[in-house]
Amino acid sequence: MQYEVIKVNPMTARIGAEIEGVDLTKPLDNRTSHEVHEALKEHCVIFFRDQELDHDSHKAFGRLFGELHVHPAIPGPEGHPEILPIHADKTSTYIAGERWHSDVSCDEEPPLGSILHLHTVPEFGGDTLFSNMCAAYDALSDRMKAYLDGLTARHDGEQQYRGRYKDMVSDDSRMVYPSADHPVVRTHPETGRKALFVNPIFTMRINDVPRLESESILRMLHEHCANADFHVRFRWKPNSVAFWDNRAVQHLAIWDYFPNTRSGYRVTVKGDRPV
Ligand code: SIN
Repeated sequence: MQYEVIKVNPMTARIGAEIEGVDLTKPLDNRTSHEVHEALKEHCVIFFRDQELDHDSHKAFGRLFGELHVHPAIPGPEGHPEILPIHADKTSTYIAGERWHSDVSCDEEPPLGSILHLHTVPEFGGDTLFSNMCAAYDALSDRMKAYLDGLTARHDGEQQYRGRYKDMVSDDSRMVYPSADHPVVRTHPETGRKALFVNPIFTMRINDVPRLESESILRMLHEHCANADFHVRFRWKPNSVAFWDNRAVQHLAIWDYFPNTRSGYRVTVKGDRPV
């Protein structure tokens, strides 16, 4: 891809690029928006620096890529249900995304992508890791690819969400959390590449195989996806933005900065049913 208006600086051969020449606080023209979209397709996760987004400009940027998603468990700030707070400080007992996952993969139609803006970051630590699930799939043996072909897996939000967000939701006893069956290997709707689509947070079991077999295969796939060969590691600064393609990557937030504060907001773009 020949980029004319943005500068794309790849961070590894397989995943991640830092983008220059874009001001996300202002409406993007068609060419810039197209190039950002192409960079996301090419690099699976893209990063921007020095973007002082507010909720409106954050949502406007997200809407260039599709309708916005409302999180099934975590409420947004007043008047902004599509904004997901990502916050940890000295009072926190958990953080969002501490294990590898693709966001809300338990939805029938899991998100296309997520755009995280952090305004406050610790002096050290708090990086996010991203792993390329297309590269992870490509690296499997032909025998394993043939075994996984056609398998589906159950993804469930219940065990992840129920009772977890007591600081934000006082009583979730009436809430129904999403669950869905998805192919273990999905085909990316835009690039046509195959990607592994199981993760340790939401994937409960591979369907139609014995329990021990499901557990063993999932354990192997999770270990495989955690291989650093497929990774990029992002070091945040205040007002950095990460935009990842949930159909092509998993990510993991590292909580190595307690009791310091790390804070910002995420906008999530709706996706379609994995095939
Ligand atoms: C998440 O969206 O899973 C959180 C990622 C992060 O805080 O780095």
